Amino acid sequence: MRNRIYIKDLKEHIGKEVIIAGWVDVRRDQGKMIFFDMRDMTGKVQCVALPGKNFPSKNFPAFALGDKGQGTHGFLNSSPESLVKEIRPEWVLKITGKVNKRPEKNIKAEVLNGDLELEVTQIEVLNKAETTPFQITESTIGINEDLRMKYKYLDLRTERMQKNIRMRDKIISFFRDYMHKNGFIEIETPILMKGTPEGSREYVVPSRLFNGKFYVLPQSPQQFKQLCMVAGFEKYFQIARCMRDEDTRGDRQLEFTQLDFEISFVTQEEVLEYTEAMFIELVKNVYPEKKISKIPFPRISYAESMKKYGSDKPDMRVNKNDPNELAFVWVLDFPMFEKTKEGELQAVHHPFCSIKEEDKEKFIKGEDMFSIRANAYDLVLNSYELSSGSIRIHERAIQKQVFDLLKISEEEQQKRFGHMLEAFTFGAPPHGGFAPGIDRIVMILQNEPNIREVIAFPKTGEGRDLMMGSPASITDKQLKELGIKLVK
Ligand code: AMO
Repeated sequence: MRNRIYIKDLKEHIGKEVIIAGWVDVRRDQGKMIFFDMRDMTGKVQCVALPGKNFPSKNFPAFALGDKGQGTHGFLNSSPESLVKEIRPEWVLKITGKVNKRPEKNIKAEVLNGDLELEVTQIEVLNKAETTPFQITESTIGINEDLRMKYKYLDLRTERMQKNIRMRDKIISFFRDYMHKNGFIEIETPILMKGTPEGSREYVVPSRLFNGKFYVLPQSPQQFKQLCMVAGFEKYFQIARCMRDEDTRGDRQLEFTQLDFEISFVTQEEVLEYTEAMFIELVKNVYPEKKISKIPFPRISYAESMKKYGSDKPDMRVNKNDPNELAFVWVLDFPMFEKTKEGELQAVHHPFCSIKEEDKEKFIKGEDMFSIRANAYDLVLNSYELSSGSIRIHERAIQKQVFDLLKISEEEQQKRFGHMLEAFTFGAPPHGGFAPGIDRIVMILQNEPNIREVIAFPKTGEGRDLMMGSPASITDKQLKELGIKLVK
């Protein structure tokens, strides 16, 4: 909109007539004077309509109440005097008005525009709004979450959600800049792929052109990022969407985002130092009010953490009630293998982790499997696992031995991981990486109780999208094209 001023910039236009546009926030009638707040993406301002004073004397087209579905131009230049009586919260208005300093006694120094108000001279209704299912207030915590999910676009209008999503963008853009400044390039890896070994259930996507065949959605770009190392990029990163068909919890969604990165010719120590410096810089730049409890971040081995804290996600905060305390801790030397409920051997992190030098002999002999440690590390923050990573295997023979130990048959190895084994024969460099979960980072930094509060369009605990209504059935025609028959 030409000539429109953002609400945060009104202070630069004191005494002048300006145009603003946005939503009606709250409305307060005081006798003949009507006050209402207007809101745009930059903030709020109090508007005041003084009857008779500055209103145009010309007769503007009348504003009709209850006229639903009027186009944008239905109310052009309606007389403010009749209009202000009708406007309701969440209507979309274009307002012309004079920016006035507030009388001294009405100044609210602590809020944006607390020292000024807009004296309305003209109102154009760009759209009306039905009464919303819940009030668009500062925060909707406490409102039924299903209702918030169903009307997510309204929930997102609240101050708290706007802040969370905007801070999320700040954090992501900090990471992108930081990575680029350090010589990384962002590479998009496929969403339609073949099975991944992160250990969760995969989402499958049927193929129309190859009936009976399926793509799988990535649980992480793990294999692709390793193949980017084989491809010679050396420093890869991606703000990567990951999909896992698992039960959701407060710190889990079935779709989430990682700051995924991988480096060639890197040591574990270098990955730790790089990551630590990045998080310190993030806090300094984006959350200067927060305090990191200990720098350098304390380090503890997995075994010691389990012994001392009974957990691999120890909470190292001094004061758990301090919303500004950030207690990072490195957990190192994760075991390579663990036993499943069925008593089978399974990779703790994933089968691409390299084995610690000290434990290689046991590994080669296939002895004492559960004591073999990987070059695998986690970063924990305030009791949440923020990130996992490892130095990887880059030699075919060792990778094969891990698959063998995991009792993956020769045939299965070829079918699932043949491309990795083959790639390792063409000059794969040593490499390693990390993948901080962005949703968890934003949740902790924004002091939110769960990651749904920092995702624009999250799913419910059961994995449903109540706004769009997914998951949903598809038509018989689609099923036929895909060669799929549903079993009732
Ligand atoms: P991992 O599976 O440990 O490692 O995931 C890394 C980080 O991603 C976040 N995360 C999640 N966040 C929200 N919802 C989920 N369901 C979810 N699952 C994981 C966590 C976690 O620490 N490819 C490896 C990384 C590597 O080795 O480089 C991987 O995905 O913050």
